[in-house]
Formats: sequence, C-alpha cells, structure tokens
Amino acid sequence: MKAISIGLLGLGTVGSGVVKIIKNHQDKLMHQVGCPVVIKKILVQDLHKNRSVDVDTGLLTSDANDILYDNEIDVIIEVMGGVGETKEYLLSALRRGKHVVTANKDLMALHGSELLSVASEHGCDLFYEASVAGGIPILRGLVDGLASDRITQMMGIVNGTTNYILTKMSTEGLAYEDVLKEAQELGFAEADPTSDVEGLDAARKMTILATLGFSMHIDLADVNVSGISKVTEEDLHYGKQLGYTMKLLGYAHREGEKVEVSVQPTFLSNNHPLASVQNEYNAVYVYGEAVGETMFYGPGAGSLPTATAVVSDLVGVLKNLRLGVNGKSAVTPQYPKRLKDNEEKYSKYFLRIHVQDEVGVFSEITSIFAKYGVSFEKILQLPVKKNETSEIVLVTHKASLTNYDSILLELKDMQAVREIKSAYKVVRKTL
Ligand code: NAP
Ligand code: HSE
Repeated sequence: MKAISIGLLGLGTVGSGVVKIIKNHQDKLMHQVGCPVVIKKILVQDLHKNRSVDVDTGLLTSDANDILYDNEIDVIIEVMGGVGETKEYLLSALRRGKHVVTANKDLMALHGSELLSVASEHGCDLFYEASVAGGIPILRGLVDGLASDRITQMMGIVNGTTNYILTKMSTEGLAYEDVLKEAQELGFAEADPTSDVEGLDAARKMTILATLGFSMHIDLADVNVSGISKVTEEDLHYGKQLGYTMKLLGYAHREGEKVEVSVQPTFLSNNHPLASVQNEYNAVYVYGEAVGETMFYGPGAGSLPTATAVVSDLVGVLKNLRLGVNGKSAVTPQYPKRLKDNEEKYSKYFLRIHVQDEVGVFSEITSIFAKYGVSFEKILQLPVKKNETSEIVLVTHKASLTNYDSILLELKDMQAVREIKSAYKVVRKTL
C-alpha cells in the first residue's frame, strides 16, 4: 500500500495545524483513504525559526522547486498565503499533475476560475474549502448539500476580526480603536488589519460564495464594499434602542436572473439568526427556494479549525484518487454573469442625522423622502444638544439604492443638515 506524499507550502498558523491533524488523525485518514498520508517536504521562508509544532527539520526547504519538481509528491497543500508567486507555484504544480488544496481566499477570489480551469485540463483536483469561513464546511454545503436547490440568498458573517470588534463594542461599550488594539494584542487581528476592517477580506469570501452558490462567475470588483472603521459606539447604542445588532455582513441576493453582492456594516434585527453570532465566530445564512432557511455556524479562523477544512479537502482528493475521478468534480458556472442595477437593489436603511434645531426642518426632511416614495418604519428624535443641534435617527421602509443615494445627496444639500453622522443597511428577519 503506497503512501501518499504531500508537499506543504507554509508552516505558519494553518500549516502547523495541518501537520498536527495529519499526525494525530492518521488512523482515521488511513481508514478513509486506504493508505498512509505522509508530509514529504515543507516550504518555509525562514529555515531557522522556532516552530509551534514538532517537525523533522530535514523536511524543511526554502526552495519551492524542491516540492514542485518532486515527482513523488502527489498533492500540494498551499497554506503560505499571497497571490503573485503563489499562483505561479500552484499553476506549475497543476501542470505537473499534482492535486492542490488551498486555504487562500485572496488567490481564489482573484484567480480561482483560471486555476480551476488549468486543474481540470490536467485532470487535477483543486479544493479550497478553508478559504471561506475557516472550519465551517460551507463550500461543500453549497456545492453538495444544496446541489438540488436554487439558492436565492446568502448572508455571511465571514470575518472573525470584525465580528469580534463589533461584539466587544456592542456588549462592553468600548470604542472601535480600543477593541482593535485589544484584538491585536490577543494576536487576533493582524498587525495591518486594513483588509479585515475595510471589508476586503469578507468581499473575497463573498466572491467565492456567490460564484458557487449562484453558479455564476462573480469578480471581486462586482462586490460593493464598505468596512467598519467608521462605526461608532453611538451608532450601536441607537441600533440597540431600535432592536438591532450591528454586523459586518456579506450580502448576496438573486432575483430572477440577476444578482447583487455586497459587504457592509449592517443592522440586523435581533431576532435574525445571524444577530446572535458573537465574537470571532462566523456564520453563513443560506436561503434556498426548496429548503428554505439554513445556517452554517462555527470557527472562521484559527490553526486547527482551518486545518480541519484543509485536511478534509485532502481526504476528498485521496478518495477521488482511489476512484480515478480526480479533476472531474468541479462544475463550471451554469449562468452568464448578470448583475442588478442600482434601481433593482432594495433595502431598508438606518440614518443618523444632525440638524439645526429649528421649525420646519423635520418636515423638509420628510418631504425629501416623500419625493422618492420612501416612508419611515421608525423614527427617534433626540433631545436638543448644547450647540442647538438636534439628532434624528430614522429607519426607512424598503428603498431602491438609486432613490436612497438621491435622498442622501439632497439631505447633504439641505442648509439645516449639519452632518449625516451615519447611514447603514438594515436587514430584518422576514420569515
Ligand atoms: P502564516 O501564519 O503567516 O504562515 C505563512 C507560512 O508560509 C509561514 O510558514 C511562512 O514561512 C510561509 N511563507 C510565506 N510566504 C512564503 C514564501 N514566499 N516562501 C516560502 N514560504 C513562505 O499564515 P496563516 O495564517 O497560516 O495563513 C495561511 C493561508 O491560510 C493564507 O492564505 C490565509 O489567508 C489562509 N487562512 C488563514 C486562516 C487563519 O486562521 N490563519 C483562516 C483561513 C484561511 P515562515 O514560517 O518561515 O515565515
Ligand atoms: N482575518 C480573517 C478573519 C482570518 O478575521 O476572519 C480568516 O480568514
């Protein structure tokens, strides 16, 4: 019984977890795939670094060619991150007939379709379960579990760092900067947290989810993105008063043949299943025409949770190898891309406006909304502040994005409006 040889690219947070799982679950792996699984070589940058996992240092190399050109290596596990040279490594591996498992959402969101097509040309598997929501088997859930259904909506809390920050701000009343600092000290948020807090990390994951869930090739540039760096404690406070919880929400919706995909801070009604997803946890809510509501919940990051998804993909590759069907399971998108126009995108909105406290201002504001046929669901008018500014907090009924944008422009032009402090999408549980 020939052992299967793995080449591991990267031995950081996820790579160390992969080594541990392959070692500690060897019996289970043997039982499932029918042969031993051995890590033959590991690519790192620094050969002398202290590692959090016990590995034979003879396995380490800093030359990718030692792995890519090793004919005995059957499968490459890529957990090094990066896009440019990493893509070249994976293309080279696939062209040499090596199967690939990756956790790299940046790479899959940008170049997934090219990599998948090279994989299929060469009869190779390319699996990437860990790239979205770490340990949650959401990609298999969409592609296999819900294969018979037509998915119309996916909403995801797919970034752990921002969910942790928003949870702490909301439950402990802390300021954004303080929680971000705490998250960095805990080793949670990256030293440069820009792609997490500005929503780009979530956008990459939503690109992958929407492409699979809607069977339509969605590009990262199709996702409208805004992050949480401007969210304030006051916003969360008013949201709470109105029965909402703030989340950085990935939103993907299909209506007829058209779709929209976005990522933005969103007020969810407290009875929405996603509202109770706290701290660093991730969850993806999926609505299918036949199945109705489903929700996938779990750890979206971390060494062992993410490595679980990576090694489960490896098991998938090895099962296919035994059946002789590698490279045959990827399904290309069924539909051409059709994106909704702004007038077809509907949502409720939360607005917090500072206005001069004088007669007729509120009526002027309501007349702007009325002009665009948008009515209010909730309104709070707060006591006058010292500088004769009054605060108005309102939640609209559904409005098209076109009308909402026009309303914002007209409000900004109003002389009595001192500042639009914040504006967020609102999602309520509708079932
Ligand atoms: P990490 O801790 O920074 O580890 C990266 C590893 O790759 C290190 O061992 C590093 O070597 C090696 N490496 C990086 N660039 C290299 C290069 N140019 N040449 C050779 N080796 C190189 O990263 P990670 O957190 O494990 O993340 C890995 C991948 O998984 C990323 O794509 C990430 O987005 C994805 N992911 C991570 C998580 C998570 O919870 N961390 C969750 C889901 C997905 P040295 O050790 O010598 O520096
Ligand atoms: N930075 C990511 C997060 C890691 O916070 O969710 C997992 O992709």
